[in-house]
Amino acid sequence: MPSPAAVDQFPHRHLLGIEGLVPAEITYLLDRADSYVAQNRKVDKKLGLLRGRTQINLFFEASTRTRTSFELAGKRLGADVINMSVEGSSIKKGETLIDTAMTLNAMRPDVLVVRHPESGAVALLAQKVDCAVINGGDGSHEHPTQALLDALTIKRRKGHLDGLVVAICGDILHSRVARSNIQLLGIMGAQIRVVAPPTLLPPAADRLGVEVHHDMREGLAGCDIVMMLRLQSERMHGAFVPSLREYFRFYGLDAEKLAAAKPDALVLHPGPMNRGVEIDTDLADDIDRSAIAEQVEMGVAVRMACLETLAARS
Ligand code: NCD
Repeated sequence: MPSPAAVDQFPHRHLLGIEGLVPAEITYLLDRADSYVAQNRKVDKKLGLLRGRTQINLFFEASTRTRTSFELAGKRLGADVINMSVEGSSIKKGETLIDTAMTLNAMRPDVLVVRHPESGAVALLAQKVDCAVINGGDGSHEHPTQALLDALTIKRRKGHLDGLVVAICGDILHSRVARSNIQLLGIMGAQIRVVAPPTLLPPAADRLGVEVHHDMREGLAGCDIVMMLRLQSERMHGAFVPSLREYFRFYGLDAEKLAAAKPDALVLHPGPMNRGVEIDTDLADDIDRSAIAEQVEMGVAVRMACLETLAARS
């Protein structure tokens, strides 16, 4: 069981989003996650903190890294982990989200990790179950563990988050990664810019508390972190960009556009990447500039911290 102090440090039953968290709570999760990084590099990676607990990963949308990462994280903490995807579930037979939630709830899990294509669906489900719920991404709303893993990656490389200039570039409109990162980086005192064509920005983007740019070289000028986003064509109804080739020319990150940023600027991408669309393939693989593989590694540590913080107390 976590100490009462741990409950005081993160006094929430669920992790549905970054919005509403305070700096000390984010720091608490990041510090716990940091301690799991070394553990995950050992030959014997297994701990018993969640022994006897049941974790269900309920994914209504495609996922590679998030689902695998949550599965590994739960197993490394000793939990029993079950993966459910829509393809093999009764959702295909017409069961509603709430009925599915009630059915799983009756099996007495300790934590549910849920990904859903509709914004708000995970919060709705959390109201109906007795266990902790972690949002693994809901529509274009939030993806809190992604923002936490991005923050851990940045913090380990740069030593701090406050005062950094972070440019979030590309399909901001459809991106839950952007929304959670804007929240988290704002709470932690970073200076945030979004760089995108007007068609890929949400209405009133300037009210998000960020600087808005439509030109990559201007948006990247002097920044510490360049966070690229995938063009989310599965969420687009109609054409949002004239052509992929033109998109790459104006908004794809390559060495030439990156030259506008600080010489030691770090490149992030949550994956999956569209090589040659939002990022140049050589740059994506350049381990001196890109921390993309490191983000995946930090993902497991962050999910261990979130699972342990929420599931061990349920
Ligand atoms: C992101 C997602 O699913 O929101 N991917 C991820 O979790 N690593 C970003 C994306 O799909 O582009």
